[in-house]
Amino acid sequence: MKNNRDTCILAAIALVKELMKSNDPSHDWYHVERVWKMAIHLAEKESEYNSDLDLLVIELGALFHDIVDFKYDKCEAKDLKGKVDERLSEFFKAQSNECSPEQREKIVDIILNISWRKELELKHFGQNPEVSGELKIVRDADRLDAIGAVGIARVFAFSGDKHRPFYMDDLPPIQNMTAEEYNEQSRLNKSTAINHFHEKLLLVRDKIHTTAGKELAEKRHQYMVEYLKQFDLEITCDS
Ligand code: ADP
Ligand code: NI
Repeated sequence: MKNNRDTCILAAIALVKELMKSNDPSHDWYHVERVWKMAIHLAEKESEYNSDLDLLVIELGALFHDIVDFKYDKCEAKDLKGKVDERLSEFFKAQSNECSPEQREKIVDIILNISWRKELELKHFGQNPEVSGELKIVRDADRLDAIGAVGIARVFAFSGDKHRPFYMDDLPPIQNMTAEEYNEQSRLNKSTAINHFHEKLLLVRDKIHTTAGKELAEKRHQYMVEYLKQFDLEITCDS
């Protein structure tokens, strides 16, 4: 028989599948499932150093981390929290025996602070706020899914969905992007898949928090570097 915790996770899965059913493969249920599994894996590894981690917060944070997204919801930063609360209010009401108000707050904090855009925003304002252990883990899991073989698949899925070219000789990547530029880049049709490697994916490795995550990120990073070398050789008829 399923216990209340299992029922809570299953309800979260059903809600996420429903909310994300129209997304392209870069941000679909399978992305969320990978992030969820990776977050559990990293949490197991990290629990050697940090015994205070709340696994329910990590699992629900991972499952809900993409339920509101600038790119798919076309909302502004100021509307983000309202939208998250709106989408999760019934869930938290129904699960109030499993998930306390404090846990809910930590889960919402993960959703609001996980994004790469947020990272760029903080960098722009020179801020480096304290981050919860749970957010570090879910953030690493999400970032690991942006790089390596799966990361390559996702970038082309996103670009293909937007009918963008793989590359354009006369459109170099933007260096040191701001949060606004990053957002515009994802929203508008003025970029390429290869540019996104230089604008984000190759920068991810150095933004991983956990020890186990860093090890995986290094391998995935090298795989992308090799891939880009081969891509370049092929388009210049050298291989
Ligand atoms: P985060 O999940 O950290 O907020 P994003 O949602 O912006 O990051 O990006 C997740 C993935 O979506 C990227 O790793 C990439 O695969 C794809 N993506 C986002 N923006 C772009 C873009 N401008 N061009 C190509 N792919 C993109
Ligand atoms: Ni994600």
